[in-house]
Amino acid sequence: MSPTTPAARILPPFVMVIFGASGDLTTRKLVPALFGLQHEGAMPADYSIIGFARRPKSDDEFRKEMKEGIDKFSRLSPIDSGDWKKFTQKLSYHPGSFDDPAVYATLKKTLTDLTKTRGLTQHIFYLATSPDYFSVIVQQLAAAGLVGRNLPARVVVEKPFGHDLASARQLVTDLQACLDETNLFRIDHYLGKETVQNLLYFRFANSIWEPIWNSNLIDNVQITVAEQEGVGTRGAFYDEVGAMRDMVQNHMMQLLSITAMEPPANLTSQSIHDEKVKVLRSIPTPMVEVVRSSAIRGQYEGYRNADRVSPQSTTETYVALKLQIDNWRWSGVPFYLRTGKTLSSRASEIVIVFRRPPAALFRAELGDLLSRNAMHIRLQPDEGVHLCFNAKQPGRSSVQPVDMEFCYASEFGSYSPGAYERLLGDAIFGDSTLFTRDDEVLEAWRIVDAIRNGWKDTPIALYRTGSWGPRESDLMLKADGNHWVDLDARAKV
Ligand code: BG6
Repeated sequence: MSPTTPAARILPPFVMVIFGASGDLTTRKLVPALFGLQHEGAMPADYSIIGFARRPKSDDEFRKEMKEGIDKFSRLSPIDSGDWKKFTQKLSYHPGSFDDPAVYATLKKTLTDLTKTRGLTQHIFYLATSPDYFSVIVQQLAAAGLVGRNLPARVVVEKPFGHDLASARQLVTDLQACLDETNLFRIDHYLGKETVQNLLYFRFANSIWEPIWNSNLIDNVQITVAEQEGVGTRGAFYDEVGAMRDMVQNHMMQLLSITAMEPPANLTSQSIHDEKVKVLRSIPTPMVEVVRSSAIRGQYEGYRNADRVSPQSTTETYVALKLQIDNWRWSGVPFYLRTGKTLSSRASEIVIVFRRPPAALFRAELGDLLSRNAMHIRLQPDEGVHLCFNAKQPGRSSVQPVDMEFCYASEFGSYSPGAYERLLGDAIFGDSTLFTRDDEVLEAWRIVDAIRNGWKDTPIALYRTGSWGPRESDLMLKADGNHWVDLDARAKV
């Protein structure tokens, strides 16, 4: 994607205002990532980070909270005192209600002063709030003259972008009334992961994959994002949203589109987005009867007892889907997607399962059980790529599946910039390649809404913590003569 990395470029002088600065995201991800940019030497000589939230708090209290966050969540903990000394001076806090025009007037004065006295001309407003506040904040910013069609100020919004297709459309309308699409950066932090960026390089910087990357040789594609954790302290948010809107609408759909997209004309943001959205457009809107056989929702046992979760909750913590991409490259190849909480292990992986080789030569010995070749693109943890193929066992006339591997850590060392570091750097820099465009988001909602509507009268399947999800998910693949690839026993597919 874009050729520069945060470590290789110095960002321009900027002010970032983080709305929702008292929230989890700010402490866990945003401020640790900004601190990471400082540590990597990517920060300009001067910049300013302003936390904006309702709770009254002094600058020093805010700094203290952020330091605790970095201590707990940063890859750079324990904190280097030199880095912290530089960083802490750049932090300040601005209390206020999101819908109070007077507060935006003070904010404007602060920003104007910073521009005049310190030359911090690039303004970035990061909306780390619920999407319910996106419109009001952007409208207030526009009314105060802080963002606008002819202004260079940028707005970064967190996922979820809306809660269904209608609300996402409304958001597009509301936000585009106040600023240009080029100044709107929609975060999907999966796009900031090195291994996800590598998908493009892997596919298009090599000549050997492209000729086989289609329905002629590929039997099915399996995309898994499995988590071991439950909902933890996020019960109230999660119970409203569920796995479909928390993971599938954004992260999983992005992984699917990069895996399946055509080669872009070049590596500009527009060309890449154009190809990704074409994939989503090629997925037919699932009809109710298709949803019944191709979309499984599950809930882990004990979820209803989790903190701030309704005891009658029917929110899904697991989703498995079978999607068809109705185009020349992928016609007839099922794309199986699954994601869930409290699963057997933490594993994000894309598995390309190739067609089974004809067994004729080895049938006497193996029956029809010759393993299929498979390419495992491991996104996290143990990042790498594995190619599984059949080999002769030494000293015997039998075939054994073996694994050829590329491992990030042994090839490149263990350092890898965090996703938020990369994305915040890109937003400050103005590169939108790794952000999602409005049409992609709307297409993803079209598919997700249809599935959620189809689920209305179907019961939710329960699954055990530590399992790989409900039995119904296995049965869905079995009906196609397939099975989920065992991510722990890679070579046998
Ligand atoms: C977030 C979801 O977007 O992604 C969380 O809201 C999920 O529920 C998280 O746990 C997973 O991200 P990662 O980077 O840990 O795989």
